[in-house]
Amino acid sequence: MAERGKGSFLLTSATRIVVVGQSARLGEIAGYASERIKEQTGISLAVKGVAEPAGRRNAIVLQLCRDDGGLGPEGYRVVVSPKLVLIEAPAETGVFYGIQSLRQLCVGRGRSVKIPAVVIEDRPRFRWRGAHLDVSRHFFTIEFVKEYIDILALHKINMFHWHLTDDQGWRIEIKRYPKLTEVGAWRVDREDRGWTNRPPQMPGERATYGGYYTQSEIKEVVEYAKSRCVAIVPEIEMPAHTTAVLAAYPQYSCTGGPFTVPPGDVWPISDIYCAGNDSTFTFIENILDEVMQMFPGEFIHIGGDEADKTEWRKCRRCQARIRDEGLKDEGELQSYFVKRIEAFLRAHGKRLLGWDEILEGGIPAEAAVMSWRGMEGGIAAARQGHDVVMTPGSHCYFDHYQGPRASEPLAIGGYTPLGKVYSFEPVPDSLTVEEAKHVLGAQANLWTEYIPTPEHAEYMLLPRLAALAEVVWSPVSLRDWRDFVPRMEHLMKTYDRHNYAMSAYLVSITTAADSVAGRASVSLATEMGTPVIRYTLDGTDPTHGSRRYEKPFVMDTSGIIKAAAFVGRRSLGHVTEQPLIIHNAFYKPVVLAHPYGRYTGGGKNALTDGIRGGKSHDDGKWQGFEFDDVDAVIDLGAVQNVSRISAGFLQDTYFWIFLPKTIEYSISEDGVNYTAVGKYEVPIATEHGGTSISEIKLELKGAHARYVRVSANNVGLCPEWHDGKGQKAWVFIDEITIE
Ligand code: ACM
Ligand code: ZN
Repeated sequence: MAERGKGSFLLTSATRIVVVGQSARLGEIAGYASERIKEQTGISLAVKGVAEPAGRRNAIVLQLCRDDGGLGPEGYRVVVSPKLVLIEAPAETGVFYGIQSLRQLCVGRGRSVKIPAVVIEDRPRFRWRGAHLDVSRHFFTIEFVKEYIDILALHKINMFHWHLTDDQGWRIEIKRYPKLTEVGAWRVDREDRGWTNRPPQMPGERATYGGYYTQSEIKEVVEYAKSRCVAIVPEIEMPAHTTAVLAAYPQYSCTGGPFTVPPGDVWPISDIYCAGNDSTFTFIENILDEVMQMFPGEFIHIGGDEADKTEWRKCRRCQARIRDEGLKDEGELQSYFVKRIEAFLRAHGKRLLGWDEILEGGIPAEAAVMSWRGMEGGIAAARQGHDVVMTPGSHCYFDHYQGPRASEPLAIGGYTPLGKVYSFEPVPDSLTVEEAKHVLGAQANLWTEYIPTPEHAEYMLLPRLAALAEVVWSPVSLRDWRDFVPRMEHLMKTYDRHNYAMSAYLVSITTAADSVAGRASVSLATEMGTPVIRYTLDGTDPTHGSRRYEKPFVMDTSGIIKAAAFVGRRSLGHVTEQPLIIHNAFYKPVVLAHPYGRYTGGGKNALTDGIRGGKSHDDGKWQGFEFDDVDAVIDLGAVQNVSRISAGFLQDTYFWIFLPKTIEYSISEDGVNYTAVGKYEVPIATEHGGTSISEIKLELKGAHARYVRVSANNVGLCPEWHDGKGQKAWVFIDEITIE
């Protein structure tokens, strides 16, 4: 609840932060508030303790109050009036969150800052408001981790999931096993190459890239986080994602090694702890003993994801374990593994948390599940009575692109713009009220394969974290994008110290058929919807003097649209460039013999909307057909002269997309009798060869037609050499042009 009042409070260096009562923690929060406000506004505020708040003016008063209005352990009340700012809460954590709300109201720098009068009463919807950071794929210093925690605190995020171990690096000192960091924390430096293109360590080559945290640094971070109301959940991966461990201690693998720490991509995740060897469990338990000493929180995350069981199938000891324990298969062996670790953690007063794969084969009721492969794992877990944290790749993976690929730094894939994060609902409709109580909340995950620097990590985190923060804090009834946008823009002004993305200000360009055939109506928009958009049609970059977009405009000849968002004279984000082809089939109806799959290209007009797909298969412009052939008939409306037919096809074999085997063009005057006018055979790819677009053009003389048919034969199944061999391949087509 927030209600605007009359007037405003003027924050100046004469303002005091006044702590009422004896709470040492409130005193600490006051010191923190003073530091943050100084950093944000440039204004220094002295802190003072008093027994009674009576008669205060020009003060920010912090106090504990009774929980009369249902504020709960994290809720708070902020009252800003021209005389006074009052922040009160039943518990210190609430006061801390009240400070964050106050920070969000303090925008601007100078000798004074105006804070608008307001009454806010607030409490979070979920108890798990999480953000994760992968420090294995790239190492981040303790200084940055603290910075990251500060960003979380500003957004009232209270859980920091620290992904400390993975194939590419072990990052936490374990005194009993020094080689974990002496060996496991370092890899050969291949940072000059793409993540998926990094050859392993050569014999004799020194591993120089990496780093780790000492136990005293970890304790320092735990304390730092605690002072910011953030609990840390450490993740120690098992049974797979363990190459870095096995490089140091190969005796706990099935094969005995040797292993080296991979400098880049590993797939499948087949390096794995031997589950048939009791000393493996002793090793892991000894590690967890030290981990539990360092992290006082309730949960220990044990990973559990993506374990390929190939080695277990081949291992004599693992097979003996399956027999001796009466297990059905390697899937149940993983379940045995997880249950054994769960019992150990439980005996030490901790709760096990793992990725949704840990559900396979069953887990004890107390174990909690993090749902990442969509929501299904979370739904199944909640139904079985497990607590769950929702973090589906579709909405919560902040390593995904947040804007069109052409305008963004290289990312792992996906497309999760700000609005999509904001639209996320952690509680699926399909759960009953009782089951839904098991949804503890949601979490953003920042995997860092493609994120080598702190600046880049901040760019991927902000502003999407603000959208997720609202998802986990506010009631659904208050979630409204149009309401969020101005708040987001206000909050961005406090991001000054950080690197953040302006991707939501990138202009997107769409077309529609104008009422006059052969003319396009062009619309420009940004996700935020707020800035001025300027554009050109002459190929030059838009400037503050370029034409301002007011409403959809008409184009009747082909051309290049360039557009950008502006605040005053400053261009925000990049220039979006979109060639538009106006041809005779522009927005003419297309009839498909087989429907397109999940790559719709934008729907029924995708093939004739004047916009060609680009080099990325998921840019929303390509239409994709899985296993099926493309069979498209375009009706030009009347018999006319046809001098050229062309269609574009994408090949990106990494994504199982192949050029068609054959492409055939035919024409008809009546839609019944077709004459073949061109046929092309395309050899099937014999290796991965990057992304390419093939434009198949046919010139015709003296041809007349009303109907043009484009048939393209899918290769059907992925070929022998391909990782998807024998499974359904895709054909991608975009823009059939007819002149
Ligand atoms: C995961 O993304 N492998 C949990
Ligand atoms: Zn084994």
